[in-house]
Amino acid sequence: MRDLRISVTDRCNFRCTYCMPKEIFGKDFPFMPKDGIMTFEEIDRIAGIFISLGVKKIRLTGGEPLLRRNLHELVSMLSMRDAEIAMTTNGVLLPRYAPALSAAGLDRVTVSLDAIDEATFAAITDSGHTVAAVIAGIEAAESVGLGPVKINTVVKRNSNENEILDIVERFSSRDIAVRFIEYMDVGTTNGWSLDDVVSASEIRDMIGDIERITPENKSDVAKRYKLPNGGEVGIISSVTEPFCNDCTRARISSDGRLFTCLFSNKGLDLLSPIRAGHSDSYIVDLVREHWSKRKDRYSEERSINSSRTSERVEMSYIGG
Ligand code: GTP
Ligand code: 5AD
Ligand code: SF4
Repeated sequence: MRDLRISVTDRCNFRCTYCMPKEIFGKDFPFMPKDGIMTFEEIDRIAGIFISLGVKKIRLTGGEPLLRRNLHELVSMLSMRDAEIAMTTNGVLLPRYAPALSAAGLDRVTVSLDAIDEATFAAITDSGHTVAAVIAGIEAAESVGLGPVKINTVVKRNSNENEILDIVERFSSRDIAVRFIEYMDVGTTNGWSLDDVVSASEIRDMIGDIERITPENKSDVAKRYKLPNGGEVGIISSVTEPFCNDCTRARISSDGRLFTCLFSNKGLDLLSPIRAGHSDSYIVDLVREHWSKRKDRYSEERSINSSRTSERVEMSYIGG
């Protein structure tokens, strides 16, 4: 276990069709009640427990993490600990919050951006936000030292594969690494089909002249490539070239459940024992026991026998 991804809220200000489709995540959707969500003190304590078990990198996720009020206060608590702190965000709230987050000790941000054509972006994110607002967020993050910014682009067939080359061209000259992600069957609300997946090899062919960069860590999810102009792109091939074997990631949902895989259907409740007053060493034992029994290899199994469990946790609940 090396990476801990902590979801701080299950809410989002976007309604990406592949993640939180409006028909399901509408006005009446039962989001988590406030008292069921971990407080900053509880998150910080859980982070400390996981760091004692080997975690080196903490990533704050959501939903959209910047919807959590005063998030910089959590960042400043976590920054006292011995781990890198990153965040994955849709970016539109960065102009407002990047300065406080940077001052509080956030190390870097990854911004999700699936298209730079405004009409395509609007069709995917379905929420009235603009590419211009996301770009302003990226620039705000860079200007306060939250770089090098990475961009995550989920590629879905007949939706945004025509954007790939434009996105590479726009960002590769700016020290921003774009990582193209194969569209995954996370959750059960997005109507995923293998036909919608643009494979890593197709993406590589589209970009053309690229050269593989030797990985720094075995557990990195993105394969990195150098472009002729010196820029970099990454490809995250979780469907066609799964990487479960090297996975060192644990995930905590905003109600304090530990998930050992993005495709799990249930998590281990850590918040109840914490609220019941148990000691850190009690929680450490729970986590150690759960992690040591871990057998997750969902993506590899999917590619071997196309079997898919029918219950899978939603991306907006677990944070990707
Ligand atoms: P950095 O290298 O520190 O930037 O972190 P990272 O590569 O983990 O980046 P990020 O957290 O943004 O992960 C990129 C994307 O890869 C996620 O948003 C997911 O879509 C996908 N991903 C991350 N972890 C897993 C995993 O364990 N399994 C699968 N199938 N996909 C994953
Ligand atoms: N497949 C691949 N990536 C996804 N993301 C959300 N849903 C999916 C999916 N079904 C991405 C988001 C964000 C990150 C947290 O995960 O776009 O970049
Ligand atoms: Fe929100 Fe991210 Fe899901 Fe889009 S992918 S709806 S930005 S949580």
